[in-house]
Amino acid sequence: ITPWLAAVLVGNNPASEIYVKNKTKKFEALGLKTDLFRLNEDISEQELLSLIDKLNSDAEFHGILVQLPLPKHIDSEKVLNAIVPTKDVDGFHPENAGLLSIGKPRFIPCTPKGMMFILKHFNVDLNGKHVVVIGRSNIVGRPISILASLKELGNATVTLCHSGTKDLKYHSKQADVLVAALGSPEFVDASYIKEGACILDVGINRIERDGKSKIVGDVNQESVMGVASSLTPVPKGVGPMTIACLLRNTTISCKNRLIN
Ligand code: GUN
Repeated sequence: ITPWLAAVLVGNNPASEIYVKNKTKKFEALGLKTDLFRLNEDISEQELLSLIDKLNSDAEFHGILVQLPLPKHIDSEKVLNAIVPTKDVDGFHPENAGLLSIGKPRFIPCTPKGMMFILKHFNVDLNGKHVVVIGRSNIVGRPISILASLKELGNATVTLCHSGTKDLKYHSKQADVLVAALGSPEFVDASYIKEGACILDVGINRIERDGKSKIVGDVNQESVMGVASSLTPVPKGVGPMTIACLLRNTTISCKNRLIN
């Protein structure tokens, strides 16, 4: 039995096209299966929900991923809530978010899960440390703040900063580990960090520089060099770990099916 993911891509968002292609390519390279369901930008919410229904009851698929963002006329929350939680390998369903928040995770969202693997690999022990997260998205900021605070996983003290935070620098300068997940190109420079901080850069921003298109993170790499003790690079860094964790969650889902 081979882990099998159903990936749903609605419309022609160029960034989403690249993300989904990178995901399916990696599945194929490692001998896992994916089916890509491409839908027109103008598909109705009802048609999309019908497809999710079909994928939910198709025993062939162990995981279902709906690439975000969805077009404006579709209620993303409604669509994500329609995915059966046992196939929700992105970990976005409220049941899975709830399980994570009480420390009993089923599927951990892929990007924060990948970040925890990076920290483990480089022996960055979060126990008792101060983790400061900038950005409160359901995909990255909130779940990483929960993971880092859970006793069995991070056991860190966590501050979650967002667009309403007063004096962001005051908070970010206290971070032993800083997570930049605000989606603003090269926003975090040396003035935001404490000497020796470990920085995880979650941003993937396309910018124009010197007449060329370029991908940069949420951290100004040049500025923090020599101040931070470590920094995940963009490109590479956290991005590929997101894909690795999607493979892992799909494999876990496949195994769970065999056991149950
Ligand atoms: N859009 C940005 N990140 C993600 C992700 O991790 N999963 C999905 N489905 N869509 C995304």
